Order: sequence, then C-alpha cells, then structure tokens
Amino acid sequence: MAIVDESIIQQCRQDADAVSSTHDLDQIKSKYLGSKSAIRESLKHLATLDSARRKDASILVNSIKKSLGEIIFSRRAALLQEQTDRALADQGVDTTKDAAHWHIGALHPLTLTLNALKRSLQHMGFTIAFGPEAETFYYNFTALNTPRYHPAVTAQDTLYIDDDQLLRSHTSCVQIRMLEQQQPPLRIFSPGRVFRADTPDATHSPCFMQCEGLVIDHQANLSDLVSTLRCLLENFFGRSLKMRFRPSYFPFTEPSLECDIWFKDKWLEVLGCGMVHPNVLENLGIDTHKYQGYAFGLGIDRLTMLRYQIDDIRALYEGDQAFLQQEAQE
Ligand code: PHE
Repeated sequence: MAIVDESIIQQCRQDADAVSSTHDLDQIKSKYLGSKSAIRESLKHLATLDSARRKDASILVNSIKKSLGEIIFSRRAALLQEQTDRALADQGVDTTKDAAHWHIGALHPLTLTLNALKRSLQHMGFTIAFGPEAETFYYNFTALNTPRYHPAVTAQDTLYIDDDQLLRSHTSCVQIRMLEQQQPPLRIFSPGRVFRADTPDATHSPCFMQCEGLVIDHQANLSDLVSTLRCLLENFFGRSLKMRFRPSYFPFTEPSLECDIWFKDKWLEVLGCGMVHPNVLENLGIDTHKYQGYAFGLGIDRLTMLRYQIDDIRALYEGDQAFLQQEAQE
C-alpha cells in the first residue's frame, strides 16, 4: 500500500466545495479523515517502513492530514455562515443596514455631585438621613427658632398645601427630625430637594437641591466646622481652594456664616452655616451645657454648575437629552 500524496488535498477541496450542507460535509470528513480513509491507512503503514524512510513519510502524511482538517473546518464555517444569512434573509433582516443607535444611560450631573459629597461625608463619619419633602410649618420654621411672623418666613416663601403643610424650603428640617429620634452625639447629613417661590431664571429654580450637615457633640466648635467644610469642598473640586467666611443671619444658628469660594476671579457663595442656636437644642430637651453643635446647608446645584461649568440652573431640570449626553462625557 502506498502512502498518500498531496493530490488528495486538491480532491478533498473539490469535494468539500461541492457540498451545500454540513450534513453532507460530515460524509466528506469521514471519507478523508475517517477510520477507513487513505490518511488513516497511510498512518498505519508508517509503522512498517524502515526508520530511514519513516521520518520523511511521517512528516508528509501529518502535514497532509492537517491540510485536510483545515479544509473541512473552513468549509463548515462558510456553510454555517450561509445558513445564518439565509435564515436572516428569510425573516427579512438586512444585516448590511446600520444598526439603530442606542444611547447608553448616564448618571445625572446632580447625582454625580451628590455621590461625591456622600463619599467624602461618609469618610468623615457622617451618616445619611432623609426627611419628607412635604413638611409641616413646625419642622420647616418653628422648631428652627423661626416663629410664624418672623421675617425669615417671608424670605423663604414656598408652596403652602394648607395652613400647616408646605413644601420644605430647606433641608434644615431634617436636623429637627433626627434630633427627635437620636440622642447626641450625632453626625448626620441629609441631601434632598427643596422648594421656593422663585421665578425661574439662570440662577433661580423653584425646585433645587441642598445637602444639610449637622454635628452635635460635647465640643463641636466653629473651627471644626470650618475645617470640615474645607475638607469637603477641596475634596469635591479636587484642589485647594481660597475660601471666605462672612457673617450672616439664620434664626437657627448663632453665630451664622456664609461661605464663599474664589472661582474664576469672583467670590461665589456656596453654603450657609453656623453654630446651632441654643434655643433649637433646648426646645428639644438637649442640655446645652453638655452639648453644642454646628450645621451647614450647601447648594448641590451651585456646586454642580461650578464643577461642570453649567451657566443656567434650568438645564439641570429640563431633562434635555443633548445636554445630559454632553455632561455624561465629562
Ligand atoms: N437652611 C439654610 C438655607 O437654606 C442654610 C443653613 C443650613 C444655614 C444650616 C445654617 C445652617 O439658606
């Protein structure tokens, strides 16, 4: 019996090209590579050759075997592709057409800011707290040392649901709710939506976001407040900041301060803060000889606008896809 020669490769290719189904190709495969194939016989025959001839013959037979295997493999791939194309064409699918463009969703810029603040505050030991957006006059004002006829009530005008219920005008209400629930010492932050009777323009929106912070402890003091805020804001902007604290007025803090940061050659206000007024703590039955604390309320929208260089606050609330897609690239 003779050893196969390379002409078998050409034959195999012709046979493989002639079939039009993988089932028929299986038969070609067994004809050329199966147990009764010429290749198998040749492999068996190698053992009978003397060692001088065996080496060359073995290299030849194995290389032919490899070529046959490759022919069958690539023909099978081509047949499967044809099968798939035919099935798609039968269903009227045109694979040469452009695919529909799907936009991958992204987090809203306000959410990105909130996540960054959350990370820093949690690192500093603050735990998150939430309060309702529809509040009572008591939590929004009275409990915060702001009686009904105080001028600060007009300054924070909001939508009233009835005499007693309103949409909260700041997140400071959560200070009271938390102090009712937990004994000091306490260290919480509370992000959320707040509402004011403001006409929308580039810097005002009737709905915006704040993040409240509250620390009550034996020795929480102004310098803690300042360094906490510096740490928080520098972390947020990823660089050191020029900051300024100005005296201000809030009925529920004493002293009260406003914090500005130096941004593009201007001072910009980013938050209000101060030491919690003793009246607030005493009304809740907290011993002000033992405990004192500080609070701050920062504008999430303002920080977002600075960080992403957005110059109109309305862009954050209009849900315009082109705008959001652009911010998502940042
Ligand atoms: N609630 C105040 C505002 O909305 C901000 C503030 C919070 C001030 C906490 C002092 C302490 O303007």
